[in-house]
Amino acid sequence: MRIFLDTANIDQIRQGAKLGIVSGVTTNPTLVSKEKTADYEAVVKEICSIIPGPVSVEVLAENAESMIKEAHLKASWAPNVNIKIPPTAEGLQAITALHQDKIKVNMTLCFSVNQAILGALAGASYVSPFVGRLDDAGHNGMELVKDIVDVFAHYKFSTEVIAASIRHPEHCVAAAKAGAHIATVPYSVLMKMIQHPLTDVGVARFLSDWQSVSKGK
Ligand code: E4P
Repeated sequence: MRIFLDTANIDQIRQGAKLGIVSGVTTNPTLVSKEKTADYEAVVKEICSIIPGPVSVEVLAENAESMIKEAHLKASWAPNVNIKIPPTAEGLQAITALHQDKIKVNMTLCFSVNQAILGALAGASYVSPFVGRLDDAGHNGMELVKDIVDVFAHYKFSTEVIAASIRHPEHCVAAAKAGAHIATVPYSVLMKMIQHPLTDVGVARFLSDWQSVSKGK
C-alpha cells in the first residue's frame, strides 16, 4: 500500500517528503481554505515541485462542460496534477471525456460500490472511498474499501483504490488489510503511524546501556 498525504500544508508536505515514503498528495477545497490563501494555483505548483507523484486537485464546477474546462486548466499547472471529480452524472460525463483527453482523474466522494464501478468504467485512474465520513454516518467505511478492491480485482480493473477520509492509524492498518492500493492520510496520522511506545523505550534503554558501558571504560 502506498501513502499519500491528505493536506495542502506546504510545511507538512516538506516534512513528509523528507521521510521518503510519501508518493502523492490529495488536496480539496476545504484543505486549501485552511491554508488562508486564495492562490490555489501557487499552492498546487509548490506541492507538485516537492512531491513528484500524483497531486489531486479538485474541480469546483458542477456541469460536465465546465468541469472539463476547469480540469484542463488545472492539469496545465503541473504534469503531475490529477483531477478530483465527484461521481455525479455530470461528473461521470466529465471523467469519460478527461480519460479520452489523457487527464488522470481521482473520483472523489465515493460512497458506494456502484459509484466505484461507474468511475472505473468511465476511466478514472483512482476512486476514493471516504472511510471516516461513512463511519461518522453509522456505516462501516472500511467494508466499502474491501468490497471495491474485491470487485476491481474480479474484473481486473486498472483503477486504483485510495482509502480516503482516514482519521487514525488503525484506519491505515485496516486499509492495508482490505487491499487498498493507497491510503491518503493527514500529516497527524502519518506521525502517529511512526510512533510506538516500545520503540521509544527500546531506544532509551539501548542509549543508557551504551552510556553505562562507555562510562565504565
Ligand atoms: C480525500 O481525497 C479527501 O481530501 C479527504 O480524505 C477527506 O477527508 P475528511 O472526511 O477528513 O474531510
